[in-house]
Amino acid sequence: MFSAEEIARRVSELGREITDRYRDGDLLVVGLLKGSAIFVCDLVRQIQRPLQIDFIAASSYGGGTASSGAVRLVYDPETRLEGRHILIAEDIVDSGRTLARLLEVLRSRSPASIAVCALLHKRIATQLQEPVRFVGFDAPAEFLVGYGLDHAEEYRHLPYIASI
Ligand code: IMP
Ligand code: MG
Repeated sequence: MFSAEEIARRVSELGREITDRYRDGDLLVVGLLKGSAIFVCDLVRQIQRPLQIDFIAASSYGGGTASSGAVRLVYDPETRLEGRHILIAEDIVDSGRTLARLLEVLRSRSPASIAVCALLHKRIATQLQEPVRFVGFDAPAEFLVGYGLDHAEEYRHLPYIASI
């Protein structure tokens, strides 16, 4: 679906967009594990301003290819969000349920701003009220794997993105 070269090109553009958008203040990039792990590592190296990195684990899929509904969040409650610009890095937005829940939890901790950067967006999110600020690619309504995305924990290591 997307080659390693296409991904690298787009991630570098996203890095420039993000660099331009955040002119001042403290920026904390929060990667949603595990899907965004590879994306975050590439993305932060294309952002040319000071930033810090953190991770949150969220899961809404079991071993299947359809969203199960319940979103489980595992994060470090010690991380200070107050007064900082929070940029959530997500691998793919499907129903939008994971992000909606995450935004609700993080907002309650008074960040200066909160935005989402998703590598892929299926554009079928019904559970998400607000737009995703930075989007890498529009994705087809198919199940994708590679570049961090898994099917039952397999395929994350592929350097490209493929449809199952
Ligand atoms: P949502 O809560 O329905 O938006 O689901 C978002 C999460 O489900 C993503 O962070 C992924 O981990 C996973 N997911 C959704 N679609 C896909 C896909 O096509 N391939 C792999 N994982 C997916
Ligand atoms: Mg996943």
